[in-house]
Amino acid sequence: MHHPILAPSLLAGDHAHLASSAREVEELQLEWLHLDIMDGHFVPNLSFGPETLTALRRRGITLFFDTHLMLSEPHRYVEQFAKAGSNLISIHIEPTYDHEATLVRIRALGCQAGIVLNPDTPETAIESLLAHVDLVLVMTVQPGFGGQAFRTDMIPKLEQISRWRTERKLSFRLEVDGGIDVANAADCRAAGADTFVAGTSFFKASDRRAYANAFAAL
Ligand code: DX5
Ligand code: ZN
Repeated sequence: MHHPILAPSLLAGDHAHLASSAREVEELQLEWLHLDIMDGHFVPNLSFGPETLTALRRRGITLFFDTHLMLSEPHRYVEQFAKAGSNLISIHIEPTYDHEATLVRIRALGCQAGIVLNPDTPETAIESLLAHVDLVLVMTVQPGFGGQAFRTDMIPKLEQISRWRTERKLSFRLEVDGGIDVANAADCRAAGADTFVAGTSFFKASDRRAYANAFAAL
């Protein structure tokens, strides 16, 4: 079983000082930073693009960049995000494009590859791709905005994907994203999740060190 990783989402950081927000994550000795990329089409919101990642690297941020592409045409952008310093690039299953070829391409670009599914997408949609991924991201809210309520009905989906991982002797990480806090993260952990995105609950925590320690103990 993978050790638990907390991946704070920069979407909930200070957008006028994103490097400072990333630095706060680094100072807690956390490993990952989650970067939410939105195109105003696949999701009804906009965030930031590859130039922001490049600028964070230029400022000396060395965190593992966990890049979550919420784009209708992610295959057109994977190269830019790889060059901008991503360590892992996750793409959604819902839009129509060649998912397998794009996952293969992400790996060829030197990044880890992830597949993401929305709350209303059944896990069977990604089943045939599991051998091509380093991470499966189960959305626990409808993507597009931070600060939404966690969907407890995603727990059986985590359990099924976790079961496939064991049965097929695969080793991808299983990540959850949306409305995550320490309490529901424990439920996700019990269901097989090992990687936890937290935006609002992380950046609003009064004691971030204690908050990070609680995740490390999951
Ligand atoms: C939602 C994004 C999430 C978001 C999570 O579209 O994919 O990563 O930042 O934020 P919280 O933790 O506030 O739900
Ligand atoms: Zn995300």
